[in-house]
Amino acid sequence: MHPDLEAVLITEASIRRRVKQLANEIMKTYGDEEITVVSIINGAILFTADLLRQIENPVRLDCMRISSYGSATKSIGTPQLVHSLTLDVKNRHVLLIDDILDTGKTISVVTELIRKLHPASIRTCMLLDKKGRREVEFKADFVGFEIPDKFVVGYGLDFAERYRNLPCIGVLKSHLQNPPEWGH
Ligand code: IMP
Ligand code: MG
Repeated sequence: MHPDLEAVLITEASIRRRVKQLANEIMKTYGDEEITVVSIINGAILFTADLLRQIENPVRLDCMRISSYGSATKSIGTPQLVHSLTLDVKNRHVLLIDDILDTGKTISVVTELIRKLHPASIRTCMLLDKKGRREVEFKADFVGFEIPDKFVVGYGLDFAERYRNLPCIGVLKSHLQNPPEWGH
């Protein structure tokens, strides 16, 4: 285990198994339709890369960058769009992929932005869901794992841009989390 982790919450093997199951759920839902995947970077990069390799539908891929946090774990309010889409999503089946559903603010803002572009459909696939933290009501169509209210890193999730490369998902030791007033 990485020395900065307090515990491993989800192992590399269970991520792999669940990603395969999610891909099957997604393929069943879309039939043989083409999917326009919108990955919210940086957090969803690893998850998107693994998930897409298990999906057999025709896929178009685009990325969006949203910033809702400063360098630490403290929310700085309304999520801001930093980098927008380059693909046309009008009349397309859009699947939004993100790392974690926390307060729900990010995915709600992104969903509203995409909705204005008149896609044929919008669905969301989240690797993790911290149900207990919701401030804006939101239900994802596909969820990898429900997790408790702990600050997690790894498999794309960061603390101050670090730990994204860990192959598992783990709880960061609390003395490494700043600022201390953060509620996790
Ligand atoms: P929301 O807008 O509050 O739902 O936040 C979603 C974003 O917050 C995610 O895309 C992450 O960047 C960040 N986030 C929330 N919880 C965690 C966590 O436990 N670890 C790392 N990032 C997190
Ligand atoms: Mg993120």
